[in-house]
Amino acid sequence: MQNKIVTLDEFIIRTEKENPKSTGSFSRLLRDIGIAAKIVNREVNKAGLVNILGVEGSTNTTGDAVQKLDIFANEKFIETLSYSGEVCGIASEENQDIIQVNNGSAVNGQYVVVMDPLDGSSNIDVNVSVGTIFGIYKRKSPVDGPCEMEDFLQKGTEMVAAGYVLYGTSTLLVYAAGQGVNGFTLDPSIGEFCLSHRNIKMPAAGNYYSVNQGYYLKFDLEMRRYIDHCSDLNYRLRYIGSMVSDIHRIMFQGGIFLYPNTRKYPKGKLRLLYECYPMAYIIEQAGGSALTCKLERIMDVEIHSLHQTSSIAMGSGDMVRDMKEFVERYGAVIQ
Ligand code: AHG
Ligand code: MN
Ligand code: MN
Repeated sequence: MQNKIVTLDEFIIRTEKENPKSTGSFSRLLRDIGIAAKIVNREVNKAGLVNILGVEGSTNTTGDAVQKLDIFANEKFIETLSYSGEVCGIASEENQDIIQVNNGSAVNGQYVVVMDPLDGSSNIDVNVSVGTIFGIYKRKSPVDGPCEMEDFLQKGTEMVAAGYVLYGTSTLLVYAAGQGVNGFTLDPSIGEFCLSHRNIKMPAAGNYYSVNQGYYLKFDLEMRRYIDHCSDLNYRLRYIGSMVSDIHRIMFQGGIFLYPNTRKYPKGKLRLLYECYPMAYIIEQAGGSALTCKLERIMDVEIHSLHQTSSIAMGSGDMVRDMKEFVERYGAVIQ
């Protein structure tokens, strides 16, 4: 007998009912993120047709300008969230400044959203997986005025929800809002995200390590030693170049993802607000851990600016603990 399909919307409503204090506002916001993800998914699937439908910068058959996909994704998420009525502001990797939503009732929205609308953008032109990352905070500024910078410069520990969408061989939306991590696969035939991965718990250890090994010589000694250790143990190296895809693998199969500081990026490359906090939030709720390469818990790192970057080592708990031992052992050694 076929199991009853639970759609994302249905799941959100059910979860809302379990929380007597819920106003429905958060549920509507999550549902709107699901809608934006479907719109972006439609465009990602057409990416390979760009030479037929028109190259970037030209106009397509319906007269619209053809955009780069990361710009398109950014605009669609901003558009959808701006009209949701629940969001008073957005901060995106693609925008220098915060976006204050000021259409009608949205100024009273209780939430702000931070996002990387298209992660792994170097993969788009070659038909390899990309993703979207988002995090949600409750605003700190008064609800009857525009959002302020203080609403965004909140540590990961203040996040109320985070999620990612993986546009892969199938499209998957994974989110966590304090009650575990759940995954929903898009069924294109009915246009709905359907619950496919309930209460995801990641393995405590695994066989995969994920790092841009091309930068090996630019890493600190302790990271090089740890990477040697992974290689000695015959862990399998996988690096897609899209954090969402790389982390999705280790969520299910166990492993560690590293983006250490390098000479080019002495503070790390990945963005704390749009990439590190949300993915750390999910990983921790799935039972894993996430540290900087200086061993600070990612969620506790102080944030001072929107586009601040960090080094990161995240994944299966036992493996992150091993990495920590290497840093403690070799960190103080003069190179
Ligand atoms: P984005 O496409 O949003 O700029 O993010 C790319 C990020 C991340 O997803 C990935 O892990 C990393 O950059 C890849 O960087 P390198 O090419 O330096 O390895
Ligand atoms: Mn990214
Ligand atoms: Mn991006």
